[in-house]
Amino acid sequence: MAGMAREIRLRPLRRQDEHAALTAHEALACDGFGFLIDYVPGEPWETYVGRTRDQSRGVNLAADRVPATFLAACVGDVLVGRISIRHELNDYLAAYGGHIGYGVAPEHRRRGHATAMLGQGLIVARSLGVDSVLVTCDDDNAGSARVIEKCGGVLDSVLDRPGSAIPLRRYWIH
Ligand SMILES: CC(C)(COP(=O)(O)OP(=O)(O)OC[C@H]1O[C@@H](n2cnc3c(N)ncnc32)[C@H](O)[C@@H]1OP(=O)(O)O)[C@@H](O)C(=O)NCCC(=O)NCCS
Repeated sequence: MAGMAREIRLRPLRRQDEHAALTAHEALACDGFGFLIDYVPGEPWETYVGRTRDQSRGVNLAADRVPATFLAACVGDVLVGRISIRHELNDYLAAYGGHIGYGVAPEHRRRGHATAMLGQGLIVARSLGVDSVLVTCDDDNAGSARVIEKCGGVLDSVLDRPGSAIPLRRYWIH
C-alpha cells in the first residue's frame, strides 16, 4: 500500500549489508538502474563500503565524481533501498543527474518507502548546505515522478538527453 511507510531509517552501508545490497543491485540492473553506484563486480565488499565512505568525504574522487553521501534505507534490519545525495553538481548532474538518486528493491515497492527516503534525503541535503535540490527522472517513470511531486518537486523542464529516446523530467525542491 502506498503512503504507509513505517520507520524508514537512512544509515551508511555496513559490512552486514553485503548480501541484501548485492541482491538489490542485481535486481535493479533489470530496470537499468545502478543500485550500488560504481560497484566493481567481484570486488571485496569492504572495499566498496570504504569507497562510499571516502566519496562522502570527498576523498580519492574520480575526476567525474563529486562528494556524495550514499545511505542504505532500512526498515528494522531489512535493507529496502538506497539513496545517494550529491553535495554539489557537476555539469552532468546539473543537466541530467540531479542532487539525489534513489532506488527501492522490487519486493519492497509501493509502500511509500521511496517517498520517505527522499523526504529524509532532503534533510540530509540541507544539512550539507544544499537548499535547492534538483531531482530528475525519466519521463516514463511514473512512480519516481510521483515520489518527487509528493516531496514538493516543482517541474522545471523536460529535456531530451543524448543517447536516450526517453525525455528527462527535471524538478527543483526548495
Ligand atoms: C521509482 C521507485 C523508487 C518508487 O519506489 P516506491 O517505494 O515504490 O515508491 P512509493 O511507494 O513511495 O510511491 C510513491 C507514489 O508513487 C506511486 N508509484 C510507485 N510506483 C509506481 C509505478 N510503477 N507506477 C505508477 N505509480 C507508482 C505510488 O502509488 C505512490 O503514489 P500515491 O502515494 O499517490 O499512492 C522504485 O520503483 C524504483 O526503485 N524503481 C527503479 C529505480 C528508479 O527508477 N529510481 C528512480 C530514478 S529517478
